[in-house]
Amino acid sequence: MDVQGMDIGAEQARDAPVIAVLGSVNMDLVTTVTRRPVPGETIAGRDFATVPGGKGANQAVAASRSGGRVRFLGAVGSDVFAPRLRELLDEAGVATERLRTVEGSSGIATIVVEENGENSIIVVGGANAAVSELDADDLAVVADADMLVCQLELPVPTVAAALRHARAHSTITMLNPSPVRDLPEELWADVDIAVVNRGEARRVGAVLDRIPHVVTTLGADGAHHRGPDGSELTVPGVAVEVVDTTGAGDAFTGALAVAWSRGPRQALRRACAAGALATTALGASASIPDRAAIEALLD
Ligand code: RIB
Repeated sequence: MDVQGMDIGAEQARDAPVIAVLGSVNMDLVTTVTRRPVPGETIAGRDFATVPGGKGANQAVAASRSGGRVRFLGAVGSDVFAPRLRELLDEAGVATERLRTVEGSSGIATIVVEENGENSIIVVGGANAAVSELDADDLAVVADADMLVCQLELPVPTVAAALRHARAHSTITMLNPSPVRDLPEELWADVDIAVVNRGEARRVGAVLDRIPHVVTTLGADGAHHRGPDGSELTVPGVAVEVVDTTGAGDAFTGALAVAWSRGPRQALRRACAAGALATTALGASASIPDRAAIEALLD
């Protein structure tokens, strides 16, 4: 299907929300271990895999697989990883006309996954750091979308400019401030919905009180929503066999964006199911569920 000049996956309904995702694309180099080495120690890993990821790409794939019409704004490098990264988004039906190719390395995430599914991640920004400006075509994508979704693996001024433009054009804004860092006050003023985990909520602090909607992921315990009128809602988690928690928050955020118009309870339920399913296989993007899998789990 072609929506306003951009190719979008055929299975998305015409009335599905249009989600613009501004974010990172990384090749994840995933090593599984029994336990992490201590400083100075060398240990044998159990397994290794290269899996396309990046918070932006994972959230875009999650939004598309859960039924949204998704347009991606970001960059890959000119290295051997770039074709596979681009393919991930294309295969998921994400429109990639605004995905630039820049000279040099793509974003790289070195990830260690322990036996209990917990991970440690080191990200080298690569091409993501080159997304320093949004041109007129990028801004048109933001203005035309129902919702803009951002994280913090791109330069902060770019994220701030996108949020400002979205606000000026009545596009709903969702920010997942991950990896968490200090942000200018004025950026927060353009955020309608913040999606944080407990650690991020602590680190961001009181500024969250000024965001109309705050959704906090609680891991296996589900998720919590606080609305503009102070209303609160907690949705329980969905029990699954955890293999790898990498990207669970991204699956949650992408599904939440698409389901947002259903209201907090439905949106959080679907997002919790998506996040839970995303932990059931190794690799962030590998286990992001589609709409049918989300609905089957909720049934
Ligand atoms: O949130 C998970 C993602 O964080 C991984 O895919 C990795 O690329 C890092 O950006």
